[in-house]
Amino acid sequence: MTSVRTSAVALGRASTAGRVLLVEGVTKSFGHAPARRVFFDVSLELWPGEYIAIMGDSGTGKSTLLNLIAGLDLPDSGRILVDGEDVVAMDDAARTRLRRSRMGFVFQAFHLLPHLDVARNVGLPLALNGVRGPQAVERVRQMLEAVGLAARAHSFPRELSGGEMQRVAVARALVHRPKLVLADEPTGNLDADSAREVLQLLRAQLERDHAAGILVTHSLAAARTADRIYRLSREGLIPVTDGGAGGKP
Ligand SMILES: Nc1ncnc2c1ncn2[C@@H]1O[C@H](COP(=O)(O)OP(=O)(O)OP(=O)(O)O)[C@@H](O)[C@H]1O
Ligand SMILES: [Mg+2]
Repeated sequence: MTSVRTSAVALGRASTAGRVLLVEGVTKSFGHAPARRVFFDVSLELWPGEYIAIMGDSGTGKSTLLNLIAGLDLPDSGRILVDGEDVVAMDDAARTRLRRSRMGFVFQAFHLLPHLDVARNVGLPLALNGVRGPQAVERVRQMLEAVGLAARAHSFPRELSGGEMQRVAVARALVHRPKLVLADEPTGNLDADSAREVLQLLRAQLERDHAAGILVTHSLAAARTADRIYRLSREGLIPVTDGGAGGKP
């Protein structure tokens, strides 16, 4: 996709239609006097159905980059467009709406609400987007079926294994059919078999919905489930072409 990226950047603002994500020349620092730069001139473009992995040493800013894309933090400079909308320029309320309606998230620590059962956890993004009633119930049922947890709809998170909790989190990330799914070390707490299963599910769901996805991981095996692998460093986000991204096998 490097050629597409090059040509799109060359075209400048001519065409943003259809693109799920455009990150262009983004730089991020933390603190003041002196500010500490995390990364510089990061660019990335994703189209519907594209699924990429981002690797890189601890502290290189992978989670920070996902936060910027989600509009949870702001870059020092550069452009970030999600589904054609400028995340940096919009106000907080618009950012929250964009995040809720068009993005889905899977985290290492699951972040399931302990007092809600599996079905209610999965249904949260629908509730936040005002989808209720039979339509919401049916959509939750479909998602639980898709991740193999239909029989656990009324279990609570504490009654599930780590792998099952993460399958619930995948269902929750996709229940509202987001255009972009951000997964930050989603298999970091899982054994190898559960990790493989969760990543296969994530990939299958992204494909079915033609959604774009970013998987942040330290595991090369996990990264290889994506279409392309990038490595984040101080110099920016570089495509990995030799199949080895310096992570754990
Ligand atoms: N809110 C913050 N305030 C100050 N510094 C921060 C903040 N968030 C992150 N950092 C710093 O920015 C750098 C990048 O952090 P980040 O969490 O993005 O790294 P990462 O690549 O996700 O690492 P890991 O692989 O360990 O998860 C780190 O040095 C971190 O200490
Ligand atoms: Mg991180």
